[in-house]
Amino acid sequence: MQKLYTNATLVDKDEPQEILIDNGKFTAIGPHLAVEAAETVDLNGRLVVPPYVDPHIHLDYVYTAMRQGALNGTGTLFEGIQRWSETKAGATVEEVKERARRAVREEMLQGVQYIRTHADVTDPSMTSLKALLELKEELKDILTIQIVSFPQEGMYAYPNGAELVEEGLKMGADCVGGIPHYELAREFGEKSVHKAVELAVKYDKLIDLHCDETDDDQSRFLELLTALTYMEGIGDRTTASHTCSFGSANGAYAFRLMKTLIKAKLNFISCPTENIYLEGRQDTYPKRRGLTRVKELNDAGINVCFAQDSIADPWYPLGNGNLMNVLDNGIHICQMMSFPEIDHALDLITTHGAVTMHIQDEYGLDAGKPANFIVLDADSPYEAVRCRTGVLRSVRYGKELFVREPAPVKTDLAILQA
Ligand code: FE2
Repeated sequence: MQKLYTNATLVDKDEPQEILIDNGKFTAIGPHLAVEAAETVDLNGRLVVPPYVDPHIHLDYVYTAMRQGALNGTGTLFEGIQRWSETKAGATVEEVKERARRAVREEMLQGVQYIRTHADVTDPSMTSLKALLELKEELKDILTIQIVSFPQEGMYAYPNGAELVEEGLKMGADCVGGIPHYELAREFGEKSVHKAVELAVKYDKLIDLHCDETDDDQSRFLELLTALTYMEGIGDRTTASHTCSFGSANGAYAFRLMKTLIKAKLNFISCPTENIYLEGRQDTYPKRRGLTRVKELNDAGINVCFAQDSIADPWYPLGNGNLMNVLDNGIHICQMMSFPEIDHALDLITTHGAVTMHIQDEYGLDAGKPANFIVLDADSPYEAVRCRTGVLRSVRYGKELFVREPAPVKTDLAILQA
């Protein structure tokens, strides 16, 4: 059945657009399609963009911040890992799924339709991975989930960690994970990067490493990851998450590495709310922001995106899956607020995330692609970002996942009326 959305505002289009959908796919998008559809929806000039992408979250950790023993007193990444390690035993597949489902609901109701989640596989029972694989299958028609086989406690710092990562890939994880800066010595960190690349090639998987999530400018696993994936020709299938130390690297080092990053076509994920909170903890003043060089990467044409990372877990006590909030924090912390940057800021939580997830073929507002999109309560990208606007509608394969009416306001005051 054909469905026509009229009066849509699209990024970089001057006049209102019409969007024609048939059989779950976009069939035409243009200013005057001159078609009679079975159903027509007037969007009243609201902004239509592809769905939000959250390319980095830990769905197995959500809502565990308040558990007994999980409290992270220092607010550091390393105490977060310790608290998780001490409290993760005893989880069941159903319990993990229930928490993950709640987080998915929060994210989806705020316009997310694509998620890459890490699953902690430093657990011989593979409880997290089993739970998230089941959830992925259950939700596949309404949500795209990619899963990273992620050794939270290290490939080598944890007994048989590398074997568990490989087991996770065999079980069906989409990406190889790693955490080289957490290994017990630099050599083991390097070994884990080599292992991740070897596994990605062996099983034809994507790579997403927690890489250099520290202010230590001598943590330089990004360099090795870039070189190895470039030489294997899989840089564009590889993601470096966090890379906080690159924000502390000296200019000469960054200048040289940037050239290789461009050649390798590596993808970057920054988690602004988490890393502004977790990093800089050993600094007095001046205190570093702890984020990677998002602005410089973006200016160089390197694919970089933002992600939520945590929802109420031992690393970060807040978080609610609102990518607009993540974006708002990110563009402030990274000083990305020239008018052209604001106009294209939504890319950081939409198209750039899709490139990171390597799903460009099915993502975007193009004829022939799945009719997946969201409608924002704004008439331009600038207004959407300025007002941190909410999502009025989320459409998946041409069907409404939800429709939200703007909340009515009761007032007699003329100044408060539109
Ligand atoms: Fe993470």
